[in-house]
Amino acid sequence: MTNSVDLIARSGVEDGPINFMDLKAQQNVIRAEVDAVIQKVLDHGRYISGPEIDELEAELARRTGAVEVVGCASGTDALIIPLMGEGIGPGDAVFIPGFTYNATANAVLAVGATPVFVDIDPKTFNICTDHLEAQIDATLAGGKLTPKAIIAVDLFGLPADYPTLTKIADKHGLFFMADAAQSFGGAIGDNPVGSLAPVSGTSFFPSKTLGCYGDGGAIFSMDKERADIWKSIRFHGTDDARKESLRVGINGRLDTIQAAILLVKLKIFDAEWENRNRAAQIYYERLSERLGLPPQVDGFKSSWGLFSGLARSGDDRARIQSHLQSKKIPSAIYYTMGLHVHHAFSAYAPDGGLPHCEDASTRILALPMHPYLTDENVHDICDAVLEVN
Ligand SMILES: Cc1ncc(COP(=O)(O)O)c(C=O)c1O
Repeated sequence: MTNSVDLIARSGVEDGPINFMDLKAQQNVIRAEVDAVIQKVLDHGRYISGPEIDELEAELARRTGAVEVVGCASGTDALIIPLMGEGIGPGDAVFIPGFTYNATANAVLAVGATPVFVDIDPKTFNICTDHLEAQIDATLAGGKLTPKAIIAVDLFGLPADYPTLTKIADKHGLFFMADAAQSFGGAIGDNPVGSLAPVSGTSFFPSKTLGCYGDGGAIFSMDKERADIWKSIRFHGTDDARKESLRVGINGRLDTIQAAILLVKLKIFDAEWENRNRAAQIYYERLSERLGLPPQVDGFKSSWGLFSGLARSGDDRARIQSHLQSKKIPSAIYYTMGLHVHHAFSAYAPDGGLPHCEDASTRILALPMHPYLTDENVHDICDAVLEVN
């Protein structure tokens, strides 16, 4: 078993530049094994629906406690396929946070449903449960759309408030799913991401905590029936014999080669999380007074998919970014706009906007976060941030 200290030594990156993410370092650790498993797929030739798909789905179910896992072509398909499976479409309202990647809204619109944007909790950056209730009530009162589903997003890797969200979904009889694209590896108590909502979707985009070498995703289900429907939808809606179309479907399959690569990456996943967590704890110790960081609440385990905090103002953020840049330290902004402000989604902007989404988008700043940062790297980053008054 690889331990977290080994990992950095084996990656050979100790004296290199600080990267925002570092897939090359990871590849240094696993390259020989990745070459071997790709060779194996080339040898058996089952590029679509090969044995590695079943193996990966079983391993993901084992790790997360999900009853069934269904691999799919992307994190976006991991949202679209369950929405299709529930028959959600025109006239249906799907409640989503306004501060997330555009894919969450795109998935809702792709099935013809209407996104209803909900503000975020200004501390955790996740969906605000009070505003969610208010938006459900307002939608019911409006009488134009039928509330059908909630998609919570675990922003930057921190699980949303699932205990409260589950109660709200149950109270209103809504389908409830997690957009866990950024949070694979997170948990609440003993329950890993993948088992926190009835349905969860994750992304294997290369930069995610579990990423492949292309596009990929997976859907986690706490019941078997739904998963059987998704397996059909991802294969053009066909029956098991692939002869008849039972329902409308898509080509939403995960490639065998990507599943093989993910199985290799899973072997070092826990050690990688340890390193992410070590970096995160140094950031918290040193930067809690300088940046608005989400509280570390007992029992809530982040995947540390990204490490973001709030600067004091937009100007402060710009000063920090330019000082970091002068020291060759990369940083990034997720996200520069709330979704309701984007041209494509502005028709769905709530009256009065979403104040916390808007404030976060002007102040949020992401610092380097990946498993191959040394303690010294993280201290150098903290020193640079603290040099900006
Ligand atoms: C919150 C969120 N949802 C959905 C997605 C979509 O994932 P993919 O790019 O694999 O389609 C992403 C990916 O960046 C994401 O961050």
